[in-house]
Amino acid sequence: MSLLLGRTGAGAFAYAGRTLDETGIGDARSQIRDSSRGAAPGAHAAAQPVYETVLAGSQAGVTLRDNAAAFTELGLAPGIAGPPASHGLATTVMGQSIALPVVLAPTGALAVHPDGELAAARAAAARGTAVALSSFAGEPVEDIVAANRQTFFQMYWIGSRDRLLRRLDRARAAGVCGLVLTADWSFAHGRDWGSPDIPERLDLRSLIRLAPGALSRPKWLLNYVSRRQAPKLTMPNLGDPAPTFRDAYREWRATPPPTWEDIAWLRDHWDGPFLLKGVMRIDDAKRAVQAGVSAISVSNHGGNNVDCTPASVRALPAIAEAVGDQVEVLLDGGIRRGSDVVKALALGARAVMIGRAYLWGLAVNGQAGVENVLDILSAGMAATLCGLRCPSVRALAPDDIVIPHGFVRRLGAAEAPAG
Ligand SMILES: Cc1cc2nc3c(=O)[nH]c(=O)nc-3n(C[C@H](O)[C@H](O)[C@H](O)COP(=O)(O)O)c2cc1C
Repeated sequence: MSLLLGRTGAGAFAYAGRTLDETGIGDARSQIRDSSRGAAPGAHAAAQPVYETVLAGSQAGVTLRDNAAAFTELGLAPGIAGPPASHGLATTVMGQSIALPVVLAPTGALAVHPDGELAAARAAAARGTAVALSSFAGEPVEDIVAANRQTFFQMYWIGSRDRLLRRLDRARAAGVCGLVLTADWSFAHGRDWGSPDIPERLDLRSLIRLAPGALSRPKWLLNYVSRRQAPKLTMPNLGDPAPTFRDAYREWRATPPPTWEDIAWLRDHWDGPFLLKGVMRIDDAKRAVQAGVSAISVSNHGGNNVDCTPASVRALPAIAEAVGDQVEVLLDGGIRRGSDVVKALALGARAVMIGRAYLWGLAVNGQAGVENVLDILSAGMAATLCGLRCPSVRALAPDDIVIPHGFVRRLGAAEAPAG
């Protein structure tokens, strides 16, 4: 099967002989399914290690698949009378007014496209939404804020408190409008279908090793050659001089995960909106509220953390019920269609973040590819709202969807602190 082969006349993207508009972004999911079963991945828009980086997942890929599959278990409850003339997609997230309830998730995905995070930030700005910049990004935060004023900066707990504060100060000075602390990671990300070979730097030896994979993706290679650029393999937002991926990863591994006191400490040093990403348990959600965060993302890192964690959307209803009146609740993981966004919002999310869906668009056609993905999601949301006879995303309620028996997971319910 071939992935996202190129642009069609209609401005959509050809994928396995069909277009994204016909198939929905869900086709990225079949690609993931095929690869996790060990099938030959075929021709892709990006070089093999890049493709494998975006595909990601961990271990047997149970969570990766469940994130998307869980949405198909949720039904919709369409109405028949009084269709509103327009279907409002606008909302607010972390103090930002956005034109659709979809934010680009932080993704440290190097070398997907030479315009990288800049293209993604511009696409989000063109469609009126926000972007969360990964601290593992290849572009400096200052340039991303210049491309999109609605930029949140994502941090991992890496290094000493001093170093964390320096990164935070830099993000503040750059003008980001919110901070994201991602707290879920296990460092055990081996996967049954193989892990990407990311070189430390592009020296002669690594170029020779990677040449066959790059040469077999001429469009990807040409994108770089025509811009006279090499794939960026350093992380300018993690320090000066910018560390390589492996150096940054080594420092991260050597840093113990944050305690709740650490999280509250970081929150105290940030005077704007603060989102804790990676919450899957009710007790953690309640502790996050106590630590003073203003938002959480119910997330399992897109299935890249501990495999066999349930789909994030299965954990969403109980978490939204527990803390949804105290903090903004977002969801990420498995969003491939506009109707997935509608379902997540009906279950209590204020907005969603998307990862792979926009990375595939970026791989195919840079900024225009990401805009195309956002347009597909918007059209899907509008059509679903129309079918539900619901005037806006803010009016969505659990009544609008059908939740099968046993769907909801209440992780950490027994341990949840009172209040
Ligand atoms: C290639 C890749 C890189 C990612 N890098 C980061 C990162 O640097 N920081 C982070 O908080 N999450 C990262 N994530 C997780 C995403 O922010 C998000 O949780 C996930 O992609 C959502 O699932 P989806 O891809 O099914 O939409 C990454 C995900 C992918 C696929």
